[in-house]
Amino acid sequence: MQRILRLLSLLPLGGLTLPAADAIRTGAVADTYAQLCAACHGAQLQGGSAPSMLDDQWLVGGDDASLAKSIREGHPDKGMPAFAATLDDKQIRSLVIYIHEQRAIAARAQTKFNAPKDDVVASSQLHRFTLKTWADGLNEPWSMAFLPDGRALATEKRGTLQLIENNGRKLTQIRGVPPIDSGGQAGFFGVLPHPDYANNGWIYFSFADPQKHEGRSVTLTRIIRAKLRDGALVDQQDIYKAPLSVYPGPGGIHLGGALAFDRDGYLYFSIGERGHGPNAQNLSVPMGKVHRVHDDGRIPADNPFVNDSSAVPTIWSYGHRNPQGLGINPVDGTLWDVEHGPRGGDELNHVRKGLNYGWPVITYGMNYDGTPMTDLTAKEGMEQPVRHWTPSIAISGMTFYSGDLFPKWKNNVFVGSLAAEELRRVELRDGRYVSQEVLFKNLGRIRNVVTGPDGALYVLLPTRIARLAPAE
Ligand code: HEC
Repeated sequence: MQRILRLLSLLPLGGLTLPAADAIRTGAVADTYAQLCAACHGAQLQGGSAPSMLDDQWLVGGDDASLAKSIREGHPDKGMPAFAATLDDKQIRSLVIYIHEQRAIAARAQTKFNAPKDDVVASSQLHRFTLKTWADGLNEPWSMAFLPDGRALATEKRGTLQLIENNGRKLTQIRGVPPIDSGGQAGFFGVLPHPDYANNGWIYFSFADPQKHEGRSVTLTRIIRAKLRDGALVDQQDIYKAPLSVYPGPGGIHLGGALAFDRDGYLYFSIGERGHGPNAQNLSVPMGKVHRVHDDGRIPADNPFVNDSSAVPTIWSYGHRNPQGLGINPVDGTLWDVEHGPRGGDELNHVRKGLNYGWPVITYGMNYDGTPMTDLTAKEGMEQPVRHWTPSIAISGMTFYSGDLFPKWKNNVFVGSLAAEELRRVELRDGRYVSQEVLFKNLGRIRNVVTGPDGALYVLLPTRIARLAPAE
């Protein structure tokens, strides 16, 4: 402290004048930081005349509220000016996100992560494991499901479906797949057998459906079911197809596409807001929602908005940005989702009937270009995530671990991530977040993770599916 004060006394603090509010470059948060903060806290937040913001030594506090308060009110007695008159709440919020981001980047550079090659034993907090290639030669597998006879089906983003046999050794491309738009974030998404597949043979699929409407190409997430016969999909039936008038343009972003059956046999599926935030709050369009239907696509009489004539009756919950993972908690049968935030604010949510998950009104993130979006992270009538990731890890698919090979991981959530290339284990208790760890990192983008019938975890990597099993 003595040293800081001595250093501060060398600075022309008395003469420090803040730029006029209209002279602040508000475009990107990195500019704002460089312009207003770097001189004292260091260009990389490493500290200088003012304390480092990268270590865990906080004078006031490193939580969102304390950071915002420090910036707003400053520490005038210690030489930090107040910024309340210079920066608005949104700009202060984007600086808070920026501080979290820079801390995570610095922490990651200091951490040695597992990136196990086949047959190399990796350790983690509770179990030692190996990660071995199980099926090779795939092209961006998006989801996978096992059939009762041990075979598996994997969708590939580009619009193909692979049947995987002989314990991962034999791949056959299935014929009769519907036309699929695979531009941008569009593609072939979910595959999920009916809970009673052994008797009825139904398999459910979600995909980006390319259509023509009034002469224009349009695309939206569509759900079908079909049967697998002689290497082809047959008996296709629509489970959910929106009216073409609401289909946005082709390719594009935020299509959702996750599928889950709950214990009562209801099917849930997600559709992202297609890059238009207000869709998520608009009950008259299917985008930005989690939906619930009977296994044949009929609308359950107890869906929350069935009696609202202006609402899409399949909606179960709304205010979602881009949910790419759905899972049923084996402890209590509840529905959960993981969804991409913008820059910051990826979420794990407990998804409940009729509730609003807040996007784009509340979020823990900001715009990708570093401009602020909102300072609101919470609001009456809007649900908080159970956990959020800031900075974003670009969260993808999820599974609740329900196998027996890893007893200490039972009922934990496993989530993959695209940009951060991480597999994370998240521990919940009574529906609340307890802890998490990164099991491995840097083996490529992870689109999904599945609990296999053998109790191993199957991780979908860019060109292969790897089996995560206990180290012998
Ligand atoms: C003129 C130098 C100066 C400038 C400019 C400055 N700070 Fe500070 N800041 C300080 C000092 C000195 C402290 C330590 C206060 C103390 O000792 O209590 C501090 C403390 C903080 C804290 C509290 C840290 C903790 O440990 O709890 C935060 C957060 C912070 N500054 C963020 C910022 C941000 C963001 C900016 C730019 C918008 C900024 N500061 C600009 C000097 C500065």
